[in-house]
Amino acid sequence: MLSDRMAKALNEQVNAELYSGYIYLAMAAYLESADLPGAAHWMRMQQKEEDIHAMKIFDYIVAKGNRAEMKAIEAPPFEWESPLAAFEAAYAHEVKVTGLINGLVNLAIEEKDHATNAFLQWFVTEQVEEEESTQNVARQFRLLGNAGGGGLFMLDKELGTRPAPAPPVAE
Ligand code: FEO
Repeated sequence: MLSDRMAKALNEQVNAELYSGYIYLAMAAYLESADLPGAAHWMRMQQKEEDIHAMKIFDYIVAKGNRAEMKAIEAPPFEWESPLAAFEAAYAHEVKVTGLINGLVNLAIEEKDHATNAFLQWFVTEQVEEEESTQNVARQFRLLGNAGGGGLFMLDKELGTRPAPAPPVAE
């Protein structure tokens, strides 16, 4: 069983992961409207990944004998200045999520909750990838600058090849 404090904090992280998915879905909608179907696809795949993150924590709460609680999910922004701005915002969001995960680890250590600390280490590693992947795409858009045209077409095509995330392995 998780302490009330730990359970509440993990529940908040389920909400934060669902919000992450929601913000990436909003970015997908924006990128579709900007005629970048490949970049929109990339964001759709990111949304699926966030769903997996949320469910991983949900399942952990259940496995510990606590009850997951669904709270309202905040509405994400609707508009971004440019595709680059959207991917920069995605990177900034991932940095924020890394901070949330670190906060959860700190709490688990404070509570001497070794199981939750061990569980959270997967997310610590995952966040390195999450920051790297969003930053990489932002960098590619930045390199293109205002060139647009053929380069933008090629980048969008490449982003459209992002595979769907693998379903989580049963533990
Ligand atoms: Fe669930 Fe993108 O961190």
